[in-house]
Amino acid sequence: MTRILVTGGTGYIGSHTCVELIQAGYEVVVMDNLYNSSEAVLDRIETIAGTRPKFYKTDLLDREGLETIFRENDIDAVIHFAGYKAVGESVAKPLLYYENNIAGSINLYETMAAHGVKTLVFSSSATVYGAPKSVPIREDFEVHTTNPYGSTKLMNEMILEDICTADPEWSVMLLRYFNPIGAHPSGLIGEVPNGIPNNLVPYIARVANGTLEYLRVWGNDYPTVDGTGVRDYIHVVDLAKGHISAVAYALEHKGAEKVNLGTGNGYSVLQVLHAYEKACGHELPYQIMERRPGDIATCYADTEKAASLLGWKAQYNIDDMCRDSWNFTVRNPDGIK
Ligand code: NAD
Ligand code: UFG
Repeated sequence: MTRILVTGGTGYIGSHTCVELIQAGYEVVVMDNLYNSSEAVLDRIETIAGTRPKFYKTDLLDREGLETIFRENDIDAVIHFAGYKAVGESVAKPLLYYENNIAGSINLYETMAAHGVKTLVFSSSATVYGAPKSVPIREDFEVHTTNPYGSTKLMNEMILEDICTADPEWSVMLLRYFNPIGAHPSGLIGEVPNGIPNNLVPYIARVANGTLEYLRVWGNDYPTVDGTGVRDYIHVVDLAKGHISAVAYALEHKGAEKVNLGTGNGYSVLQVLHAYEKACGHELPYQIMERRPGDIATCYADTEKAASLLGWKAQYNIDDMCRDSWNFTVRNPDGIK
């Protein structure tokens, strides 16, 4: 059986990917330091998929801990989600982000190399495109970052491409996610933000359940359908399935590939808000505010490469995403414990 190590496997995208991996017949080993997730996620994965992944509570910065995982398990490929992801925090604490996301990742890559494991799927982000010159965004567009978080993604891409150049035995998929939202349709796993959410849909979910008063819409003077920012929201289950296609591809091909994972459709803030109103069954209050510094008007993916290279295409629409987000929110008022 093909054995996959999932770093950050108890996190939001990682947990959904574990479910899809198990359902696709892979054996899954999870490592996570539980900084932003809970061990109870493993129970939920087991309930959905029927198998509990082997778990290591280990930090990427713990070289000995990583060594133990690779010594005790015959790993065929790694899907690397573990990292910090808050843009604002990365601006305030750049060294924390470079240490965790760069030094931690280098520890992982070195341990992989030492054990002859040279197949990797990496969580990159559409943030590497900065302010794109046009949409839809293709993988060959220029890259440019505007904050330390984005820089850690771009630097990891560069490090991994250099590793592939130096050693042609390596196989690396650099997956550039657009905006993952939603939750597993079972309502058992989903996103559990730490504190007041910065991202749109987790914030709307808290307005919908009455925890927050109203949505603050960051600007309505962008050149978009209704003036509010447009993004490519993708259901987290679709995103997880993209990883199954990517790891299967990586196990068969050498070298590095950059691939967008998005739907190719853009929705404005108000369009998402209205889709969420349909999902939760009541109106959601909002106020128009000033633009949020650093935001761009419009961002959505060209999905042609994912379709032709991986045979993968997103299936869920915006109503499905809001329905599943709301279902998870209602069922887990206290998160996953
Ligand atoms: P998440 O925070 O839910 O999951 C990340 C997991 O990594 C957490 O469980 C956390 O405890 C763990 N972790 C962090 N640092 C660690 C360390 N040093 N050692 C071991 N474990 C550690 O985040 P997510 O939304 O599931 O994101 C997964 C990956 O995808 C991240 O790399 C993120 O940057 C990237 N990404 C996320 C988004 C998004 O909008 N969610 C968009 C683009 C890219
Ligand atoms: N928005 C609001 N009010 C809110 C939150 C968001 O109006 O309370 C708007 C934003 O202005 C933007 C849209 O909703 O127009 C989406 O904002 P998010 O914060 O949900 O997502 P971003 O596209 O800004 O950022 C996301 C990830 C980043 C990643 C980036 C690019 O959070 O980590 O996509 O991939 F870098």
